[in-house]
Amino acid sequence: MASETDQLDQLVAAVQASARYRAVAEPLIRSLGERELAKRRGLKEAIKATKNKLHQVAGAYIEEPRYDAWLAEMCGAWAPTDDAAPAESEQRRRAALRQVMARHASTRERLPILDQFYAQTLASIGPIRSVLDIACGLNPLALRWAPLANEVTYTAYDIYGDMMAFLGGYFALEASHGRTGLRGQAETRDMISSPPERHADLALLLKAIPCLEQVEKTAGERLLRAIRADHLLVSFPVHSLGGRSKGMAASYEARFHDLMAQTGIGTGAEVTRFAFATELAFLISR
Ligand SMILES: C[S@@+](CC[C@H](N)C(=O)[O-])C[C@H]1O[C@@H](n2cnc3c(N)ncnc32)[C@H](O)[C@@H]1O
Repeated sequence: MASETDQLDQLVAAVQASARYRAVAEPLIRSLGERELAKRRGLKEAIKATKNKLHQVAGAYIEEPRYDAWLAEMCGAWAPTDDAAPAESEQRRRAALRQVMARHASTRERLPILDQFYAQTLASIGPIRSVLDIACGLNPLALRWAPLANEVTYTAYDIYGDMMAFLGGYFALEASHGRTGLRGQAETRDMISSPPERHADLALLLKAIPCLEQVEKTAGERLLRAIRADHLLVSFPVHSLGGRSKGMAASYEARFHDLMAQTGIGTGAEVTRFAFATELAFLISR
């Protein structure tokens, strides 16, 4: 009979053999697989359960990715045109960004509120010179909507290596077309086992806590304790991926207050609530 380590290696290899999960950070596959094997289900079932969990917390949000094509489309929108006024170029670029953000469910449902979302939630703080975007999805593409300083370091984290390479390409595109003060970095990293160590003016934890808590109940609490940032923008969805909303906002708001009490991070801090049509957000300033 295969040892536990052999079984786990086989599970990881089987999950990575599937095109959908090839680019997922290995430590997350490993820790999910370890839990499933510990349930003594047998290798085949544990592989299936690991894939299901990955789908639930990440795969279900993103459309079939076509990162090369998306980046090429964006490069087209960034290409200089002699006769375009600056406002027109800005509009063209924002339209291209919106199109790509529509490929991830989380940014897609933020599109109708995007013009207000960062303008309102971040109005009281600044200058923002460094950002951590935790479990970011495609949200870094929204940085043009955020009131950031010209000189800004933007560090984004998610579990997909191919998505992070694409975001790296986007940061390079911005930096080479006028935003020379943008230092963007996208890291493939499991935020449950390796939370960010670096300090930032602002940390974004947008609609991420419910996903992380599906893997580990204490993940939200541990991450909130670990994040080192002066301001923390935490948000929750108000509809499920299937569109159901009954009681969701109220139960996530209660979860947020539990987390504040458990971690004590709201103590002595200013906490401001923002209720948007598609998202409930809290800014914690300390
Ligand atoms: C609900 S989406 C939120 C995306 C983004 N923050 C936004 O609001 O647009 C959750 C994201 O968390 C990522 N994710 C899931 N588990 C993760 C983990 N353990 N570490 C880092 N990212 C994770 C998923 O890939 C997905 O992009």
